[in-house]
Amino acid sequence: MIDIPSFMTDEGSKRTSDYGPRTYDLFLAPMEIAWFGRWRRRMLSTLKGEVLDIGTGTGTNLKYYPEDVRCVTVVDPDDDNISYLERRSRGWGFGDDGKCLRTHMGVGEELPFPDETFDAVVSTLILCTVEDPERVVSEGTRVLKRGGRFIFIEHQLPRWKPQAIVFNIISPVWHAPSGCNLNRNTEEMIRSRTELVELETHRTGPILGYPFFIGDFRKRA
Ligand SMILES: C[S@@+](CC[C@H](N)C(=O)[O-])C[C@H]1O[C@@H](n2cnc3c(N)ncnc32)[C@H](O)[C@@H]1O
Repeated sequence: MIDIPSFMTDEGSKRTSDYGPRTYDLFLAPMEIAWFGRWRRRMLSTLKGEVLDIGTGTGTNLKYYPEDVRCVTVVDPDDDNISYLERRSRGWGFGDDGKCLRTHMGVGEELPFPDETFDAVVSTLILCTVEDPERVVSEGTRVLKRGGRFIFIEHQLPRWKPQAIVFNIISPVWHAPSGCNLNRNTEEMIRSRTELVELETHRTGPILGYPFFIGDFRKRA
């Protein structure tokens, strides 16, 4: 097992939304049932070894990591989320004889891990929220082992022009309570990373314009 220092700190916790983890889960529940749950299972169920989950939030991904995953390191700036997901994780095979869970209260833009630490890095529904998505992807790539996988389930500005206009207009209003931007060009930004090679990608979505980008990338060996 890799030797990672103790990450939990009492300083710098940041509330990243105006509501708590339970409200977030309630809000997402219908979408988890309709779409996200399926996408998470598909993208996470083949991962192995040491996984870094950036912006883990309420920890919904944790229930989809298979037995081959030895340890999941989660990073989130909101300590309410961290304590909530720690409690939930016990029901999903973490702790005692199960998979190990390491928690770090912090941001994806500054990951305190050495280069090439993880077998897989996971980014689900966070590149809309983080302050600097490019830096998060750079940091995620830096700590990923060569040949390791970088998984994305993200939403972005739809390609269909009329819908993009609407998303641009409502994004600031939506951002105020949620911290989420509806109008980032996430797919383009990920594809511009020359260190990442595409294994499988989908542009999908429950509504017109396919505002979701699902991607499985490999870091060049
Ligand atoms: C919409 S939630 C997504 C949570 C989870 N990944 C999921 O799939 O349900 C966005 C998460 O990103 C976290 N976050 C906000 N800014 C961040 C940053 N700079 N670095 C890492 N995580 C951040 C928030 O605390 C929140 O938990």
